[in-house]
Order: sequence, then structure tokens, then C-alpha cells
Amino acid sequence: MSSAVTTAEAPAVTVTRIGGRIGAEIGGVRLGGDLGPAAVAAIRSALLAHKVVFFPGQDHLDEDGHEAFAALLGTPVAHPTVPSADGRYALGIDSRHGARANQWHTDVTFVPAYPAFSVLRAVTVPPYGGDTLWANTAAAYADLPAPLQALADGLRALHTNEYDYAALRTGDVPDALAEYREVFTSTSFLTEHPVVRVHPETGERTLLLGSFVQRIAGLTGRDSRALIDLLQAYVERPENTVRRHWRAGDVAIWDNRATQHYGVDDSGDHERVLRRVTVDGDVPVGPDGTPSRLLSPEAVPAPSFGIPSGASAAEPAATA
Ligand SMILES: [Fe+2]
Repeated sequence: MSSAVTTAEAPAVTVTRIGGRIGAEIGGVRLGGDLGPAAVAAIRSALLAHKVVFFPGQDHLDEDGHEAFAALLGTPVAHPTVPSADGRYALGIDSRHGARANQWHTDVTFVPAYPAFSVLRAVTVPPYGGDTLWANTAAAYADLPAPLQALADGLRALHTNEYDYAALRTGDVPDALAEYREVFTSTSFLTEHPVVRVHPETGERTLLLGSFVQRIAGLTGRDSRALIDLLQAYVERPENTVRRHWRAGDVAIWDNRATQHYGVDDSGDHERVLRRVTVDGDVPVGPDGTPSRLLSPEAVPAPSFGIPSGASAAEPAATA
């Protein structure tokens, strides 16, 4: 099913659903910093409704255009620890770093105000494989039977970037991966989030878990793992996911507050290069209104360029 929004700047922005619960393809737009407000509003509304949206054939985009477009959705923020590929906001996702995002996760949840949106652009794609999957975490919460919703509503979880990449692999850890891990964990973060986040724009309840979760607060490791596995299984149900094969020039944007994603590691040693610009989010709150909090360090340090995650959302409160 396709619907068109006709505007002066963008004659026909089309939104075509792909999955039943997540994913749509958007046509009729040429992404860039010069996109008109009506087209941006149509994209934002599709993004909130469908959680991840795809724009094929945006080959004209370079780093500047990518960043300028992302800035129409909010304030771009750099990764808290990993230096960008262009000295600004473009994070390089590069198979040559050795790291693989083949774990279900939400981007940067080890800080409180993790990004609201991620805008990912395919630069070099492998000859086969390398797909990405996304899951709708609002649909996952809605799937939970009422007693499990009530249980999840009261839980808090600790998220960290102290992530043991080596534990995910058998055999030797390649030098490039060891170096990447050292950079990734150069500052060690620990953040407490609600397991159920109330989405600040849609009001939906979403499950906030993923591979940065260390444990559920107040539980033993064993109970914690059992509960995480139980809830995470609802996120990963095939009905709640969509899978996309990349072509060079494709752009995907996801609502990082209502999704998890997974990069499939099945391209062998073939080169796969993507660029990601993230847009700042705000501090999550649980169903009882309790916000997330940073446990360590005392503050999110400023990255090598731009503002730390959460700084743009914190500004209005600071001046109020
Ligand atoms: Fe990611």
C-alpha cells in the first residue's frame, strides 16, 4: 500500500509499507540539507509510524549532504568514544575495523540520552550478504501478555559499553578488532535505564534492552539473564522485524527509541563500508516517570567534535 503527500517542494513523497509491523520505503525525495519542511515532516511522520524507513538511490549524498540532511531531524551528535570518519559526525562502520554488529542492539544505550535517530548510508557494499535487520520494540512490548508487561514496567537495567567482543569470537582476536575495542571502551560508561521506555513523541511503551545491557538492577546474574532472554525473545520475533539488503547509495533511518537492529555477519572478508550520523535524543523515562541516570563517569565527556549525547535535549531544561 502506498500513500502520497503532495507538497510544493516535493511533488510526491511516497510511503510504501514493507513489513506488517515495521519498515517502509520512501520515494519521491532527494535527500539533502535543502529538503523543504513539508517533505521533512512527511519523512518524520513515516519514521515514527514505521520505525525504519529506506531511501534507495541516494548516490548523490556525500558526508556533508548526509550530515546536512540529518540536521533537519535534530541536532547531530558524535559517538561518545569512537572518532568520526570525517572529523565531524560521520561514524565509519567499516568491515576493516574487524568489529561486527551481529548482536541485537539499540545504538549508544550506554549513555542516558542516547540518539533519537540514526541515519545510515551505504558507501561500499559486499557482493553478497551484509544485510541489516531491525525490530520494532513497541510491537514487542505490545505482544507481551499482561502479567509480563506489568513485570517489565517495574524493571530497570544497567547498560555498559564494556563489551567483551573477544567473548563473541572463537580463536584469536585480530589486531584491528583489539584496537577498535580499546577505542570503543576508552571511557567506560554505566547507565541505568527503565526496561520499558515511554516514547517521548508517540507515547508508546517500548522495550529498552539490547546487547549493551549488563544486567537487570537488583537481580542475580542468573535471574537477570533469564528475564532478559524472556523479554528479548519478543523483540526478535520474526513478525516484529524487517530485513534489508543494501545497495550502494541506499539510506536507512531508524527511530532508535523504538527499535533494535542487527548487522548480519555473512560477507566473509568482503569490504562493507557505511556511514552513520546520529541525531541527539532525550533522557528516557519509565512508565512511573523515573528517568534514566548515568552511574559512571560523572558526566558524558565532550567528544572530539561537537556536543556530547544528551546536551541538546538538556539545554532547554538548563535555561528554564
Ligand atoms: Fe548499531
